Amino acid sequence: MDLRPALAAELADILDFWQVAAENDNRPADSRAALDSLYERDPDALIVAVDGDEIVGSVIAGWDGWRCHLYRLAVAPARRRQGIGRALIEAAEERFRALGGTRADAMVLDDNADAHGAWAVGGYRRQAEWSRWIKPL
Ligand SMILES: CC(C)(COP(=O)(O)OP(=O)(O)OC[C@H]1O[C@@H](n2cnc3c(N)ncnc32)[C@H](O)[C@@H]1OP(=O)(O)O)[C@@H](O)C(=O)NCCC(=O)NCCS
Repeated sequence: MDLRPALAAELADILDFWQVAAENDNRPADSRAALDSLYERDPDALIVAVDGDEIVGSVIAGWDGWRCHLYRLAVAPARRRQGIGRALIEAAEERFRALGGTRADAMVLDDNADAHGAWAVGGYRRQAEWSRWIKPL
């Protein structure tokens, strides 16, 4: 298995992958335009786990020059509990460290127990003092 930045030619497959593998509740739908925009702005942010020519995992390690945000951590349902999620988180953290980031954060639904286990074992803790305030644009 290979962990590396996604290729432009893989973006359509990644959107399909997220339909079956990612957490899709309570969030804006993914779009090709949004993914193209991310890729254009920061092509190394989208990290994939690839087995042969199959995408088996993903994470977005978003760095805006100030903070380190993790999005779209997902592993193919048939490949879970094999350490791929952990490896993706570590790859994202490596990128953040190289860029000078000092703290990573992830948005995690309160009822997503699978994700709680994966983030917790990676050393992440819920920050009880904060809530996320949002406004659709
Ligand atoms: C969350 C997710 C990415 C974890 O990926 P994964 O490849 O299965 O995770 P790993 O195999 O690296 O697991 C690492 C550790 O996390 C913990 N963990 C992972 N899944 C867990 C679960 N369902 N329940 C409890 N602990 C879990 C375990 O401690 C595990 O180590 P172990 O298998 O040696 O016990 C995967 O379940 C997934 O894609 N879920 C759907 C999308 C999603 O919810 N993404 C997160 C959005 S915030």
